[in-house]
Amino acid sequence: MSNESLNHRRLQATPRGVGVMCGFYAERAENATLWDIEGNEYIDFAAGIAVLNTGHRHPQVIAAVESQLQAFTHTAYQIVPYESYVSLAERINAVAPIAGNAKTAFFSTGAEAIENAVKIARAYTKRPGLITFGGGFHGRTFMTMALTGKVAPYKIGFGPFPGSVYHATYPNAAHGVTVDMALKSLTHIFKADIAPDQVAAIIIEPVQGEGGFNVAPPEFMQALRTLCDTHGILLIADEVQTGFARTGKLFAMEHHSVKPDLMTMAKSLAGGFPLSGVVGRAEVMDAPAPGGLGGTYAGNPLAIAAAHAVLDVIEEEALCNRANHLGQHLIEVLNSLRDSCPAIADVRGLGSMVAVEFVDPQTREPSPEFTKLVQERALAEGVLLLSCGVYGNVIRFLYPLTIPEKQFQQALEVIRRALSE
Ligand SMILES: Cc1ncc(COP(=O)(O)O)c(C=O)c1O
Repeated sequence: MSNESLNHRRLQATPRGVGVMCGFYAERAENATLWDIEGNEYIDFAAGIAVLNTGHRHPQVIAAVESQLQAFTHTAYQIVPYESYVSLAERINAVAPIAGNAKTAFFSTGAEAIENAVKIARAYTKRPGLITFGGGFHGRTFMTMALTGKVAPYKIGFGPFPGSVYHATYPNAAHGVTVDMALKSLTHIFKADIAPDQVAAIIIEPVQGEGGFNVAPPEFMQALRTLCDTHGILLIADEVQTGFARTGKLFAMEHHSVKPDLMTMAKSLAGGFPLSGVVGRAEVMDAPAPGGLGGTYAGNPLAIAAAHAVLDVIEEEALCNRANHLGQHLIEVLNSLRDSCPAIADVRGLGSMVAVEFVDPQTREPSPEFTKLVQERALAEGVLLLSCGVYGNVIRFLYPLTIPEKQFQQALEVIRRALSE
């Protein structure tokens, strides 16, 4: 079996809508290393799109899942509950940046967490309206497509979408969008689209993921909190991509002085197993009636066991500190390349949520072409990089925070070459 023959079979057997980035097929993976079916080795800076902050197959995660496999794999929590779900909720409630008593419900995917956060917010406020941000990404279900602020490729051909969703402007210093301009876009929505007393929630990624690793300034988050308090609107932080030590804190909202009412999480929560959750103020979380929340697989016991191990590993291996250490180093390297690589327009990040943005050096227009070239050069030397950004001109770095120092340095050398050639 070769990568080429499998590619041929894939094109026959699966629809093109399930786009695939790599032309090679995974055989096995360990921490930050991935091998394909032809024995080629890669350093994985994609980490299954931000899922593997604790690396591929962390021994503690594997041991926890193996142990759960021997006990039971599925009961449907809403039919026969289990202690591990309750104790994981207790652990999340204790550490999540939520004011007062918190409660948590578990689901399977990130989109499902957002869907449920919206259900909870509407049940609590009894209002329909939702405000999200241009460049934001929240998932591929109908409501989360509506919330997403990036048309191609996520929304093309799939409308109409659910209504009562409005997009404000996300502040973006690199693109000249100030906090003031972003706040004015909210005022405009309240004037042109929907009265603030009809808005259930403002949903924001504290650092936009797909949108280009744009970091929300603290004064913006504070202003949103004030706006929400003034009008009885809930603030929902989508931490699906930012969570679990990636930004140097367990949750990105810990970088802010204000707290959200609800927070969604998924991806690195369970180190490669499908699990998501919504944590929030107890009173808000209790708004939906019994039976209103859940799902057949929601809070699957294998994934819950993995999540317990992930939380242990983050603490025992001090991964928040490591995120800061690795991120700082990467930012230094990227900044040192600015002279030799005039295509670099911006280097930014929070902890290890680091990105570099490229433009055409002559026109200063976004350069998805150069971005692709960097990706190809790095891949040719065995480093797997992901792009992002509304214009597809940003490289994001999502290495496991458990990556050995030597391998990290090796990858940085490859990135240095890919940028300065
Ligand atoms: C911020 C954010 N929210 C929601 C989602 C959707 O998660 P999922 O793909 O697990 O449904 C993603 C996925 O990339 C995300 O980055």
